[in-house]
Amino acid sequence: MALVVSILSALLLTHVCTGDKSCEIWSSAGLVVQRNSTFQVYCTFKFNCKGSMYSGHRPLVQFHRKHNETTIYLDVAHLSDHRTFSCNCDDPSSNTDPCGLDILAGYPPDRPANFSCVHQISEFNHSSTVECKWASGRQTYIRSNAKLWVRTFSHNTSGADEVSSVSAKGSSSVAASFTVDTSVQVVSVWASVTNQLGSAQTHQKNYTLSDIMMPPVPAPPQVHCWSRNCSIKVQQKVQTFALNIDYRDVEEEQWTPHPNVSNGLVESLQPYTLYQFRARSKFATGLWSDWSRPVSVRTQEEAPERALDVWYAVDPRTESMRVYWKKLPLYVAHGKILDYTITVYHQNSVQTLNGSSDKQNISVPLCSDCDVTVSARNTKGHSPPANITIHTSEAKDVLVPVINKNNVTLCWRQHASAALPLDCVVEWFPRGQKLEKMQWLRISGNSSQVVITDMEPFQCYEGSVYVFYSDKSMDRLRFSDISIADLAPTAGPSVERLVEGTTVNVNWSEPDVGQHKGCITTYTIYLENSSRFVTTYNVSASLRFHVISGLSPAAYSIWMTASTAKGEGKPGQKINFFIQQDSQMALIVKLALLAVFMLFILCACHIPAVKERMWVYLQYFMPDIPDPANSKWAKDCLKEKDVSLHPQLSTTTETEEEDLVCVQIQDLPRPLLSPQTSLTSDTDLRPLYPEIIYITSLSHESDCSGHTQTISLDTNDYMSSHGTEAMSEAEDNEDFNTFFPSHSYFPEQLDFGPKLTLDAVRIGGGDFFSLAS
Ligand SMILES: *[C@@H]1O[C@H](CO)[C@@H](O)[C@H](O)[C@H]1NC(C)=O
Ligand SMILES: *[C@@H]1O[C@H](CO)[C@@H](O)[C@H](O)[C@H]1NC(C)=O
Ligand SMILES: *[C@@H]1O[C@H](CO)[C@@H](O)[C@H](O)[C@H]1NC(C)=O
Ligand SMILES: *[C@@H]1O[C@H](CO)[C@@H](O)[C@H](O)[C@H]1NC(C)=O
Ligand SMILES: *[C@@H]1O[C@H](CO)[C@@H](O)[C@H](O)[C@H]1NC(C)=O
Ligand SMILES: *[C@@H]1O[C@H](CO)[C@@H](O)[C@H](O)[C@H]1NC(C)=O
Ligand SMILES: *[C@@H]1O[C@H](CO)[C@@H](O)[C@H](O)[C@H]1NC(C)=O
Ligand SMILES: *[C@@H]1O[C@H](CO)[C@@H](O)[C@H](O)[C@H]1NC(C)=O
Ligand SMILES: *[C@@H]1O[C@H](CO)[C@@H](O)[C@H](O)[C@H]1NC(C)=O
Ligand SMILES: *[C@@H]1O[C@H](CO)[C@@H](O)[C@H](O)[C@H]1NC(C)=O
Ligand SMILES: *[C@@H]1O[C@H](CO)[C@@H](O)[C@H](O)[C@H]1NC(C)=O
Ligand SMILES: *[C@@H]1O[C@H](CO)[C@@H](O)[C@H](O)[C@H]1NC(C)=O
Repeated sequence: MALVVSILSALLLTHVCTGDKSCEIWSSAGLVVQRNSTFQVYCTFKFNCKGSMYSGHRPLVQFHRKHNETTIYLDVAHLSDHRTFSCNCDDPSSNTDPCGLDILAGYPPDRPANFSCVHQISEFNHSSTVECKWASGRQTYIRSNAKLWVRTFSHNTSGADEVSSVSAKGSSSVAASFTVDTSVQVVSVWASVTNQLGSAQTHQKNYTLSDIMMPPVPAPPQVHCWSRNCSIKVQQKVQTFALNIDYRDVEEEQWTPHPNVSNGLVESLQPYTLYQFRARSKFATGLWSDWSRPVSVRTQEEAPERALDVWYAVDPRTESMRVYWKKLPLYVAHGKILDYTITVYHQNSVQTLNGSSDKQNISVPLCSDCDVTVSARNTKGHSPPANITIHTSEAKDVLVPVINKNNVTLCWRQHASAALPLDCVVEWFPRGQKLEKMQWLRISGNSSQVVITDMEPFQCYEGSVYVFYSDKSMDRLRFSDISIADLAPTAGPSVERLVEGTTVNVNWSEPDVGQHKGCITTYTIYLENSSRFVTTYNVSASLRFHVISGLSPAAYSIWMTASTAKGEGKPGQKINFFIQQDSQMALIVKLALLAVFMLFILCACHIPAVKERMWVYLQYFMPDIPDPANSKWAKDCLKEKDVSLHPQLSTTTETEEEDLVCVQIQDLPRPLLSPQTSLTSDTDLRPLYPEIIYITSLSHESDCSGHTQTISLDTNDYMSSHGTEAMSEAEDNEDFNTFFPSHSYFPEQLDFGPKLTLDAVRIGGGDFFSLAS
């Protein structure tokens, strides 16, 4: 419309200067049409000229038809919006103005829906209004006029007063109101809407005002809260008959009606929770007012209700210990946790640590059989202390988990004892990351099964189940080598080699934990000689060394891979070395020296004082002489060999508890042998195992096999396995400090004396002396 006005007013200006309008324009359907209707627009030209027609906001020439000599027309189909049409005389010689027309497209009004009225009593009794509302239905797109029609009566609808109307406001939701004085008791009302395309009106509705009387909305309630109750006051502007109060936890959708408004106290609330309150009121007759604006009030704090769930991990490698706890859920915390108090009771000393509210674990000094308590603090006090006793005992049994897709099921049997199982903790963590990635679950003591659902794929997990009994005893069952999904390792072990004559001591460190991609099952050593012939050696995943002997002098390359259940991983770095021709001369010199030495000892042993003194030294030089059959080592070793004959027992551990002790030995060596848990304080990862195996294998050689000991380390495979068993015993006895008296347990390569039992040495020495004398 505005466009046409501006175009036409611009043209009017030219018209003043030039002359008349060239044409007359009209539509067959009038100026206002229903949307989607079809009609014609005509132009009759006053002069004999060739006319053209335009339409649109930005006028475009339209294809017109000829009606008669002076008149052209345009068919307009499915008009969906307001549109401007215009015609112009194209004759360049005629200085005439174009003519234009705006056509509006809309709908006739719908009948008003949901028509209803209320009688609003304001704070001032004398003025009260009737407010009616309705929904206007479909949008009309053209100007519509909505009105509320009213007829008022003082008693009933018999004596008619005059009809009056008030105009309504709003587009989709329409409202209109009028004031009534106290004499009016009944109103008859209806609504009407009209526009250029039609009109509609509601049925008449007769209301008795007392039936639709509604008090004003109350002010938001005034609320004062303690921790579990709130007192509520509602100020009302008019005297009402009834009051409703609703409240809800802001986290929840549902409002709860306050059961007894008359005492103004809402009870059974939770501490430190944000609640909303609202109110509404009603006269003896009529309608409830709208709800007041809600007020939000937080109840006060209370001291945390329950003890924390606390657990711990001991890491003998770093001689450290960590205590973990889980955050209290808000409904138990009863407030904002300010900090955590950690107390360590060790013998007679008490140490208190303070953990900030964002912490969930803390390092505490390593202690055994000490008690640690943890409690959470808010402004109102502490939670009951959660008390754990630090045990450093080793697992009794080995569990075999069942892996089902992404969750792991562990089953165990209750210890058949008089003591009642109190509770049970299942802990798990990726291998080598006990302190960093500890997770645990505390379950009922009667449980005999747990499903772990949140293990990450491509990680090798291990852990334990602890059952605590009423008599303060504890069972610990280990499990290890669990991965819910494997890939082949993305890196190989890094190899170091030590060449001694024709023997190579290969030792390696495992790839970084992130590159394992599951549980490593075996290592493979590749040895390539100068003629490109490759020999492979498969080694158990628990080992970190391998001895290859009897190599002929040449140049060699060596590299390694690690394998998971998914397959062999990428090779580690290749290392080259030489085996040199052993000099015959060197051997002869060595033998000669040995002979001289033996002679010296034979002589010296005839002097009693020297004999005594010699004993000390002999311990270090005579590992081969002890009686193999009677030595303590021999017995231990025999036992172990026995066990190693039944490796499959590990799969039946759940039922055959008697056998478990044996199986455990099979399973245990690995953690100890991993660089993470090695016993040295050395920080570089250079393994100590060559030293360890060198010594232990010597002992085994001499004691168990009955062969005469040779230092050549020939029967490497056999020795290796015995070596691990020896180490696994060390692991069994988790109290490392007593098992290995110092951190530099193997100070030098040949200081293997302490590894021999005194028994063996005494027998050995005696034999030697009797032989010598
Ligand atoms: C417009 O009218 C035609 C027939 O006259 C009909 O087929 C079409 O559905 C209508 N469109 C709308 C949007 O109402
Ligand atoms: C052409 O048609 C219009 C409209 O019907 C009419 O007013 C006009 O007189 C006609 N002109 C002639 C020349 O017939
Ligand atoms: C009328 O009220 C009912 C119920 O409140 C609602 O479902 C319906 O949509 C309303 N009608 C219109 C046209 O708004
Ligand atoms: C208005 O006030 C009168 C007395 O002043 C009382 O009787 C009447 O109930 C009041 N009406 C309402 C709607 O409160
Ligand atoms: C209305 O009130 C008048 C007198 O006040 C009475 O005569 C008439 O019967 C009433 N009509 C109805 C429909 O109640
Ligand atoms: C309302 O009152 C009027 C006037 O007495 C009457 O004509 C009409 O039928 C009444 N309507 C209803 C719905 O009762
Ligand atoms: C509300 O609770 C507080 C403590 O939470 C209590 O002291 C007080 O007596 C309670 N008030 C009532 C009216 O019960
Ligand atoms: C409601 O509270 C009032 C005042 O404290 C008390 O007298 C009344 O017994 C309570 N009613 C119910 C149903 O609890
Ligand atoms: C713990 O530390 C916080 C912040 O450093 C301090 O406010 C709080 O008093 C401390 N608590 C104890 C028990 O020492
Ligand atoms: C120990 O606490 C630190 C932060 O205090 C956190 O990043 C780490 O994940 C926690 N470790 C465990 C195992 O919960
Ligand atoms: C923790 O529990 C142990 C064993 O139940 C008990 O001997 C010890 O006194 C408790 N310590 C504390 C601080 O409660
Ligand atoms: C364990 O995994 C299986 C299969 O994915 C699933 O059906 C089952 O619900 C899981 N169990 C638990 C306790 O999540």
